[in-house]
Amino acid sequence: MEKATNNCKKVMKNKLKILTLTLSILFVKIASAQTNEATIYHEQFRPQLHFSPKEHWVNDPNGMVYFKGIYHLFFQYYPKGTTWGPMHWGHAISKDLMHWQELPIALYPDSLGYIFSGSAVVDSNNTSGFGKNGKIPLIAIFTQHDPKGEQAGKDNFQNESIAYSLDDGYTWTKYANNPVLMNPGIRDFRDPKVMWYAQEKKWVMTLATKDHITFYSSPNLKDWMKESEFGKELGAHGGVWECPDLFPLKFNNKTYWVLIVNLNPGGPNGGSGTQYFVGNFNGHTFTPADNELRWLDYGPDEYAGVTWGNTGNRKIFLGWMSNWEYAGVVPTEKWRNAMTIPRELALKQVAGRLLLASQPVNQLGSIAKKAEDISSGYSNLPNQYILKFKALKTSNCAIELLNKAGEKLVIGYDSKNGKFYIDRSKSGTVNFNPEFAKISYAPRFSGNQVIDLTLVIDASSVELFADKGTTVMTSVFFPSQLFNQIYLQSLKQIQIVPLKSIW
Ligand code: FRU
Repeated sequence: MEKATNNCKKVMKNKLKILTLTLSILFVKIASAQTNEATIYHEQFRPQLHFSPKEHWVNDPNGMVYFKGIYHLFFQYYPKGTTWGPMHWGHAISKDLMHWQELPIALYPDSLGYIFSGSAVVDSNNTSGFGKNGKIPLIAIFTQHDPKGEQAGKDNFQNESIAYSLDDGYTWTKYANNPVLMNPGIRDFRDPKVMWYAQEKKWVMTLATKDHITFYSSPNLKDWMKESEFGKELGAHGGVWECPDLFPLKFNNKTYWVLIVNLNPGGPNGGSGTQYFVGNFNGHTFTPADNELRWLDYGPDEYAGVTWGNTGNRKIFLGWMSNWEYAGVVPTEKWRNAMTIPRELALKQVAGRLLLASQPVNQLGSIAKKAEDISSGYSNLPNQYILKFKALKTSNCAIELLNKAGEKLVIGYDSKNGKFYIDRSKSGTVNFNPEFAKISYAPRFSGNQVIDLTLVIDASSVELFADKGTTVMTSVFFPSQLFNQIYLQSLKQIQIVPLKSIW
């Protein structure tokens, strides 16, 4: 009896030891995960306002859809390195478009190819039939790029596939009969953006097909029919058309349709850029209101931008904050590239023309600290902040951000030419690409005497929003240390709003 009790005590003691050991391992793991988090999002150049993945390569935003209070952001992701590679859909979520939580990879390449860009929709009526037990399916529609077909010199190596989620977008199952839209022999046949066209109870897919857009429609997201083509003779054609988007927007109680078409190269300041058309869409064809060229963002570093689906009347846009000219060689180590600040889109009439204006979503205000007025020479700039000021149309003005290493970034307005500019030629590391040091320019459209400017500045980027978002520029830069000092040319005082880090 006594022996048995002793044995029992021994066993208990051992169990306790194992438990203590397990607990301490767990504790160490949690603690190191926490320090990882702390260092991971705070490396040199790491954006503190903008989404970037913990590590590795990112390009286009994909599958953006708002559902049950969550903004889903999928993105072109290569999880094995910091350069472009076999594409996956990475995944992050946010409740407020500011704070992001990165989740496991949503879609992996398979025998049909890599997972290229695309969109996601909420299939509320279960038109696809994927819904079960009353669960609303989310459907992702994306390009599958078959590298083998490409290498073999085929023309039809990009096809459109779908996947569904029955747990509100967290995990995805690919459709067994993919692809759902076969390539008719166009090498660039990609980036499907799908929307519900309520008037005819059908889905409309806007697809980039080399040098034009092709619209398709479907009752169920599985069977697609060609509707029409647009744009061969219109807009900018300095490169391949990619990542389109189509949506209605109201202006003065009238509904207009906006067609966004990304283009690479051939952007307004070289390399990648986002153009758009304003017109009408009748469920079958898109008719532009005029033949004018319009750019959503004139800076070198906004690309592949499209909008979130299912956000009601609000249209929220997000772009990739980079340029294919040098995206693969920018001097970050742990990760490469980031997204822009989410922007709310609105049509505005400027000098008789309808322009698509974009401004930071109002949620940016939720991370604002106390605003303060500063003047030239101020040397206590934080890492991430907003600058707000007004300038006169008739005089040049500029803001210089400087650091102790003698590097500087200049953002200004050239009154003679009516242009905004960003000069990053001396902003730090610029020699990784000959194009990078170039000054970028954007026209001013508003004729108002007073120019209204907002700059959103992060560790390695600036976004300029002029005249309520009718001229926008995005530019990245890589200084060896923080720009802590500011010089103002022809500006007396400006307002600074320091921002909290999102990480
Ligand atoms: C645009 C793009 C898309 C394509 C994806 C591949 O940046 O070239 O057209 O789907 O990137 O990663």
